[in-house]
Amino acid sequence: MYRTHTCGELSLANKSQVVTLAGWVQKVRDKGFMVWVDLRDRYGITQLIFDAERTDVKILEQAKALGREFVIQIEGEVIEREAKNDNIRTGAVEVLVKKLTILNSSKTPPFTIENKTDGGEELRMKYRYLDIRRKPVRDNLIFRHKVAQAVRSYLSDEGFIEIETPYLIKSTPEGARDFVVPSRMNEGQFYALPQSPQTFKQLLMVAGMDKYFQLVKCFRDEDLRADRQPEFTQIDCEMTFIDQEDILNTFEGLTKHLLKVIKNVDVTDFPRMTYAEAMKTYGNDKPDIRFGMKFGELTDLAQGKDFPVFDGQELVVGMAAPGCSDYSRKQTDALIDFVKRSQIGAKGLIFAKYNADGSFKSSVDKFYTQEDLQAWAERLNANKGDLILVMAGEADKTRGQLSALRMHMAETLGLRNPDVFAPLWVVDFPLLEWDEDSNRFHAMHHPFTSPKPEDIELLKTNPKAVRANAYDMVLNGNEIGGGSIRIHDKATQKMMFDYLGFTPEQAEDQFGFLMNAFEYGAPPHGGLAFGLDRLVAILGGQESIRDFIAFPKNNSGRDVMIDAPSKIDDAQLKELRLKLDL
Ligand code: AMO
Repeated sequence: MYRTHTCGELSLANKSQVVTLAGWVQKVRDKGFMVWVDLRDRYGITQLIFDAERTDVKILEQAKALGREFVIQIEGEVIEREAKNDNIRTGAVEVLVKKLTILNSSKTPPFTIENKTDGGEELRMKYRYLDIRRKPVRDNLIFRHKVAQAVRSYLSDEGFIEIETPYLIKSTPEGARDFVVPSRMNEGQFYALPQSPQTFKQLLMVAGMDKYFQLVKCFRDEDLRADRQPEFTQIDCEMTFIDQEDILNTFEGLTKHLLKVIKNVDVTDFPRMTYAEAMKTYGNDKPDIRFGMKFGELTDLAQGKDFPVFDGQELVVGMAAPGCSDYSRKQTDALIDFVKRSQIGAKGLIFAKYNADGSFKSSVDKFYTQEDLQAWAERLNANKGDLILVMAGEADKTRGQLSALRMHMAETLGLRNPDVFAPLWVVDFPLLEWDEDSNRFHAMHHPFTSPKPEDIELLKTNPKAVRANAYDMVLNGNEIGGGSIRIHDKATQKMMFDYLGFTPEQAEDQFGFLMNAFEYGAPPHGGLAFGLDRLVAILGGQESIRDFIAFPKNNSGRDVMIDAPSKIDDAQLKELRLKLDL
């Protein structure tokens, strides 16, 4: 038997027992006649003691020679520690070592394997197996496992069946770029890795499986950010004979359940907001509603007062930053610099301090009276002591800029508390969005999303205004999941492809299999997918998903540990007919 106990379980209850442990040497403290070793495994750390009086002298010498990350096995007696450590579970005891076996030696690791390490990101990723030995990283992976388990058991209990769908599928031009895989047996032809199992889960509904789910890898060749990886995991779901309400209720249930079992948080409020309302009130389709700072439109109040920056603009919009009326010139200048950054691109920012005594001091006092500013304050629900921030310009763009400022203010003011959870459904997304690059409409969600029946007529006259039966789940300002009610008849699906600029031949070539299936009794269906990595990161109080993935890619999409992507040799290229002149 390699071990009788793990390194995370011994306590005074085990006092005087002879135990065998195995693990990694985290630290050696050599006091000459006495050596202490911290022994680590997945479960924790146990202190070992070797001492000249009670340990064989050969073993003491061996202990002195141990290096960091050596793998050892020891046998010894559990004794009570003189100096106890309340911070760890095993902190009341130590093991007086009688036998020591070195199972493997180790080179000195390139960074310290402690909770706080001296290793930079790139180095830690290169030696990710060492990074995972660190408790915070290990805990994140264990946390992810717990969330995944809770998801599986909840959905299984609700009657969902987990079904695997293929990873080698057909490339389609919609959505992000595909990763493609050449086929050796079919010369000149390629598979694509799925961006999601969307069409397969719909086919499973046609096949009568009724309720499907899958924790599934998806692949998207898109630019990376903190919340995006080229391969990530979805909690993918689909249901038959349901309407939007059934889906929202089911996944509201899942979200509440996860918050309860994982975070012990009871969510009572699960608001729903239309896309139009979210954009108008927060300038964002994934608003963080843990805090206020709702937008108010000031166009009618602010124009016509000879202030040239506001006059003639499509929209004047503002918000009140709580308790910021005492901002110094330096602080307000910093806000102006923030909105002028190229990523945000605003021309400027007007502010009005709503002083504690009820008076106003603004950067535009020349144009607006105290009464004018009072009217702004009322429109924005500002309180005394707040700082009113106002921007003007083209409506959508300006709302987007004010939204960036809102998030920045919330961050500065510490309003994005990771221990508070505020989920929200955003519903009634537009069906289509105009794409400047290709000069045509794209499906905002995907081309299988059904338009709201009452809006179908608008497709001909005002396609932008057509709403879809599509919804997103937002948690603390992050899009956690999205889905829709699907089109389930061939004629509507054909019409959609037509609007999206597909020729009938292209539609047939790319999605003929789905339209054929719709001719064999396709039931009404719909579903959604949550991003598991994002969900786990946010439940874990963070927004970067990388720390919750065992082997993530860096910002250039590289795995620096295995050095991928990489060249393949000529023989392989030839076999795949990717290089013919060989
Ligand atoms: P969608 O494209 O909205 O929908 O994706 C669903 C959820 O997946 C997560 N996600 C990502 N997470 C990490 N890295 C990425 N690159 C990444 N891209 C997306 C997000 C997102 O909300 N088939 C549809 C779902 C449906 O209609 O049922 C789909 O894939 O959290």
